[in-house]
Amino acid sequence: MSNEPQAIDPTASGNTVFVYEAPVRIWHWINALCIGILAITGYLIASPLPSVSGEASENFLMGYIRFTHFTAAYIFAIAFLARIYWALVGNHHAQQLFKLPITDKEWWNGMIEEFRWYLFLVKQPRKYIGHNPLAHLCMFLGITLGGVFMITTGFALYGEGAQEGSWSHAVFTSWVIPLFGQSQNVHTWHHMVAWMIVWFIIAHVYAALREDIMSRQTMVSAIVSGTRTFRD
Ligand code: HEM
Ligand code: HEM
Repeated sequence: MSNEPQAIDPTASGNTVFVYEAPVRIWHWINALCIGILAITGYLIASPLPSVSGEASENFLMGYIRFTHFTAAYIFAIAFLARIYWALVGNHHAQQLFKLPITDKEWWNGMIEEFRWYLFLVKQPRKYIGHNPLAHLCMFLGITLGGVFMITTGFALYGEGAQEGSWSHAVFTSWVIPLFGQSQNVHTWHHMVAWMIVWFIIAHVYAALREDIMSRQTMVSAIVSGTRTFRD
């Protein structure tokens, strides 16, 4: 018998691997909560509730809604910066959200395979320790680019209220509003990308739950306890 070490397939049935470190998991759920609050309060900012009765000075409903949006926005933005930091110091899987291996042919093949799997054209999908290529691309477009866009346009709008002299005006408003032409265009784009993120979430939650059952590799555990188990 040879003493050569045997190649071990980490995705073999019955194996459990550690994937997402605690900071990635904690960020995921803080991020999910913030985006949920931002989407609801943002919707109410765009389509306000019917006016409330009584003296205007006694009502601050829209003020509370906007305040909640801005508080969640600050947490979302700071958590995003913390997540970038973790991509620099964390494991390989922590970096995925910020880089796409677009020169890797296997990655594109895997993407096509994943599409075929969603179209019920293959019996079993490929197994991945980190994100599958399709999920990887959607997360990058929806949350990495989408998040940067919402932070940039959001703080540009916020800086209009905070006025010249505030950090948000200096860092964002000063160039974002002229770039889009006028404030209303920034509102419209902020609003449209908000809906794109809502669509991402619907597809993401559906895919996470469906894959957990159908793909024979656990998903939800990967973002809760950090481990993924492969099954037959
Ligand atoms: C606002 C809601 C949500 C957003 C914006 C969101 C966003 C994300 C992002 C960006 C990642 C990549 C994590 C990383 O690489 O750092 C991710 C992973 C993941 N999310 Fe969510 N998520 C949301 C809600 C949920 C919910 C409710 C579930 C549970 C059903 C879920 C399950 C997962 C799973 C299982 C992964 C890991 C996928 C894998 O193993 O490759 N997410 N999510
Ligand atoms: C995923 C993240 C976010 C979502 C889904 C979201 C959603 C929305 C929506 C739908 C609107 C209404 C736009 C309109 O039709 O005028 C809005 C307004 C606004 N958002 Fe966001 N937003 C997000 C992040 C942010 C961030 C990071 C900031 C930064 C401070 C921000 C600041 C604002 C401001 C200042 C307004 C305008 C408020 C007003 O005119 O009263 N948003 N948001």
